[in-house]
Amino acid sequence: MKQIILYDSATGNTEYLAKALSHALPNVPCGPVGSLDYSKAELVYLGFWTDKGTCSDRLRAVLPSLAGKQIFLFGTAGFGADQAYFSQIIRRLEGELPQNCTVIGWYMCPGRMGEGVRRRYEAMLQDPVSAGQAELLLKNFDAVRTRPDERDAQALLAAAGL
Ligand SMILES: Cc1cc2nc3c(=O)[nH]c(=O)nc-3n(C[C@H](O)[C@H](O)[C@H](O)COP(=O)(O)O)c2cc1C
Repeated sequence: MKQIILYDSATGNTEYLAKALSHALPNVPCGPVGSLDYSKAELVYLGFWTDKGTCSDRLRAVLPSLAGKQIFLFGTAGFGADQAYFSQIIRRLEGELPQNCTVIGWYMCPGRMGEGVRRRYEAMLQDPVSAGQAELLLKNFDAVRTRPDERDAQALLAAAGL
């Protein structure tokens, strides 16, 4: 079956996962959205980063062209140590895919956020109204600071049956 690894990654987290897939599938073309012709691919490993609860506009723009293909979704998100959060994002993304796509599986893991985000949370600490929430956000920020890591890459391969 003709396969391709296609991804969108703004800061490298999703690209890291894509590279892990590519390493396991050395004969499968791998590249960011817009760099590859995937028209003949039957199975697309589709990588996304979570942008306001779903995929980026850049990735959304190519979704209609995936009609009829099998899709394995993989993604990263700044939040969500739990699968329920990830499932919800995947359901949303599935809803944006053409109806005749078949999602054959998926994998998501946390992905570190930029330092500017941490500074914003730190500023929130100064305001008593938002301080409680800021503490939780900072805790999450620090918890995902090293993700995705090698274990995430291995878990992705296992989820993809590779
Ligand atoms: C503009 C923007 C919006 C984001 N929205 C979310 C979000 O809604 N939920 C979430 O869990 N993470 C969100 N994040 C965090 C990213 O999804 C996360 O850091 C991801 O791993 C980035 O992947 P990349 O390095 O491949 O671009 C957002 C990040 C940015 C910059």
